[in-house]
Amino acid sequence: MFGLIITLAVVSTVTALPSRLPDPSEIAFTSDDQFEDYVDIWLANEQLQWFNQTTSSERSGCTLRVNGDFGQPQPVFINRARNVFVTPNGNTGNVRLNAGEEVIVACTGANRLIRHPNIGPNVQTATARCVSNNLVSGAGWLNGNQAFGQLTCNNDAVYETQQTAQRCFNNNVVVRSGFIVNNVFHVHYWSCFDVNRMEVLYVWYNQDNTNAIFQSGVDRPSWLAGPHFPGVNINGIYTQNNQRTVFANLLGANMVDRYLTSTQFLARGHLAAKTDYVFATAQRATFFFINAAPQWQPFNAGNWMRLESNLRRRIAAANYNTVIYTGTFGVTQLRNSAGRLVDIFLHTNNRVPVPLYFYKVVYDANRRQGTAFVSINNPYYTLAEARNLQFCTDRCRNNAAFNWINWQPDNISVGYSFCCTIPDFRRRIAHVPNFNVANGLLS
Ligand SMILES: *[C@@H]1O[C@H](CO)[C@@H](O)[C@H](O)[C@H]1NC(C)=O
Ligand SMILES: *[C@@H]1O[C@H](CO)[C@@H](O)[C@H](O)[C@H]1NC(C)=O
Repeated sequence: MFGLIITLAVVSTVTALPSRLPDPSEIAFTSDDQFEDYVDIWLANEQLQWFNQTTSSERSGCTLRVNGDFGQPQPVFINRARNVFVTPNGNTGNVRLNAGEEVIVACTGANRLIRHPNIGPNVQTATARCVSNNLVSGAGWLNGNQAFGQLTCNNDAVYETQQTAQRCFNNNVVVRSGFIVNNVFHVHYWSCFDVNRMEVLYVWYNQDNTNAIFQSGVDRPSWLAGPHFPGVNINGIYTQNNQRTVFANLLGANMVDRYLTSTQFLARGHLAAKTDYVFATAQRATFFFINAAPQWQPFNAGNWMRLESNLRRRIAAANYNTVIYTGTFGVTQLRNSAGRLVDIFLHTNNRVPVPLYFYKVVYDANRRQGTAFVSINNPYYTLAEARNLQFCTDRCRNNAAFNWINWQPDNISVGYSFCCTIPDFRRRIAHVPNFNVANGLLS
């Protein structure tokens, strides 16, 4: 309740005055939805603290501001010449188009249509051409030169998942997530998924300086299962009610309140973060259960969120061109009423494990450098137990090269954390590819 009041109070101040808001780790959230609403506002405010969006008029063509020229419900925007998602120009927070350059505008999904105050016929997919500034033309569907930012859809563009023929570690399946435009599947992330355990080993996706700025004010959609959890109500499995039932069965009825409290509970922890994506459409596509794992909420709001936002900012500032493998490993344990450690699965037959570790392996192929960041997903281990579970020499601790990470590595309740060289990491967690890191750590 306390968190909710703060959430509502800051909504009105954030647009007016970008002063610092309370850190999410200082707020007691009672649901992951409440946390995500707050963190959207908090992160949007944080990016104002370090980023000034400038629109220079010194060049011809179009300049479209990530925050200002992208309406909602948002169409999917594809660069027509390159047939890839439109991206901002470096870390400027602006999309730049040359005069005459074309963007495919697509309201994907059944019964979706493009909307604009000056639209002609109903169309679902169309081509817009840059005129100047924020103006585009659309032959046969848009009347005159019109503001790009007023392009919307009658309903949110439909995002999809699709199992591919590709295989990942241990012959698990690869599921891709994104948008289908003109019969091309444009991917936002891939998920290495263990169908039997209903466990996401990892998701992978690219991050570079164009991810510096995300569009703020994007509402959180409901989580979707897709066809990947047959016969199982995966959203129901993540509820706090089900967690209480499962904990009672596994640990004893008298242990439930010890572990599940108003602030400590398991959230639907994003692997690819919502704010790792620039535009509303892509942010929405992160809400698939093939991009989630059960994560203790104060860790979600604590060191994990820190790592996500610090990494995004670091990659943008240093111009790294990375692929990030964000994953889970192992099964976390809690003591039952007899004092014995028990593996925690949220579903029967060892399905939906609560991971022991969450990690991000960040790799820049051009630089041949990479680093693995690892956190322990269990607020109930002692510091000694957590240290015992640290499986490599921590390369971040007391290392000035990593002073851009602003986490509390020894704080168990927000996620005990450390980082490894990729070879050290792979000795314990062999899931990720064997990257060439001849030039050592990426910092
Ligand atoms: C761990 O982090 C939480 C949230 O920021 C804080 O309230 C608590 O005091 C910290 N604990 C330690 C031991 O620093
Ligand atoms: C952004 O602009 C304001 C006002 O000009 C300035 O005070 C602030 O330092 C700038 N912030 C950054 C990160 O450049």
